[in-house]
Amino acid sequence: MGNIISDNTLKFQSSSKSKSTKSKLSLATTTKTSRSSESTYRYVDGRRFNENSKYALPNDDAEIDRLHLQHYLQRYIWQGNFCSPVHKSLKKSGARVLDVGCGPGTWILEMAFDYPNAIFTGIDISPMYPKEIKPINVDFEEADLTEGLPFADDTFDFVVMRNMVNALTVDDWENCLKELERVCKPGGFVECLEFQIPAIHLGKVSKRINEAYIKIMRTKNIDIMIAPRLEEMFTTCTTLTNIEHHVRMAPVGKWGDKAGKIMSEDLILITKAMGPVLTPLWGIGASQYEEFANESAREFEEGKSYCNIHVIYAQKYEPYRYI
Ligand SMILES: C[S@@+](CC[C@H](N)C(=O)[O-])C[C@H]1O[C@@H](n2cnc3c(N)ncnc32)[C@H](O)[C@@H]1O
Repeated sequence: MGNIISDNTLKFQSSSKSKSTKSKLSLATTTKTSRSSESTYRYVDGRRFNENSKYALPNDDAEIDRLHLQHYLQRYIWQGNFCSPVHKSLKKSGARVLDVGCGPGTWILEMAFDYPNAIFTGIDISPMYPKEIKPINVDFEEADLTEGLPFADDTFDFVVMRNMVNALTVDDWENCLKELERVCKPGGFVECLEFQIPAIHLGKVSKRINEAYIKIMRTKNIDIMIAPRLEEMFTTCTTLTNIEHHVRMAPVGKWGDKAGKIMSEDLILITKAMGPVLTPLWGIGASQYEEFANESAREFEEGKSYCNIHVIYAQKYEPYRYI
């Protein structure tokens, strides 16, 4: 497992290695013109959504906080920030890393401290990443993955995409995995991490919420239960070899100690974020929906719920290795 965190405690800041002075912060001003403006957003029940995207979750400050929280939970569950065997190659000067759908950039910012010789690029359809204050080896770009990645073939040593089940249709997944494969250098690695939805041992209310949400997303051809099928999708990428698929369990609720409490908080925040999608369907108000979300939290405790997290990674075929 790459980038192992040595002790078994949940950390809410970068590891001490991450705090070293070897990486420099710069006041980099991005020169790219952003096509986003307030007019491209729509507001429902006080939450902000990107009008130009199929993505069903909000992109406001509350969602940024949730994604930070989720990042630290996932790092703890996997005891590191990645699974592919790329530690050595990322130490090399000029190694290039791409994070697709990078959100607020939590993963990239941490990786950029850990690997100061590598160059990191994050893309997202909603520019919720830091625009000015960021390490000098980090750049972010506003781009829609489904329109193709704005990079040449064979550009990156490591291509990562995490937590995108709400964002991509089944067809998008097939095309996007091929895009990740295309921009990855021969010998480089492509890695995806996704929660398996729904969580296991859910109570009545949580099940009802999940079933309704799954159904709504299906009408957009988005299958949020796709995680267990990603390995098979990787096999359709003809130059991806040595495919590895690992699954780890994340407890949901106090029964799972600190990680379980955070996982529960994450699921409740996601449930609340789904509110603007579900309340019109059920004809209920935001406060009644909030009661459902709180009932969900009680059910996690009773049922000892848990969630599986899948990591799939593969290496891009390097022709000369086989001559
Ligand atoms: C659940 S967040 C995950 C963020 C980050 N990868 C993480 O793990 O914290 C999904 C992200 O995908 C972005 N997104 C959705 N559709 C996208 C698209 N078509 N192209 C690029 N980014 C997209 C969203 O704006 C959001 O930031």
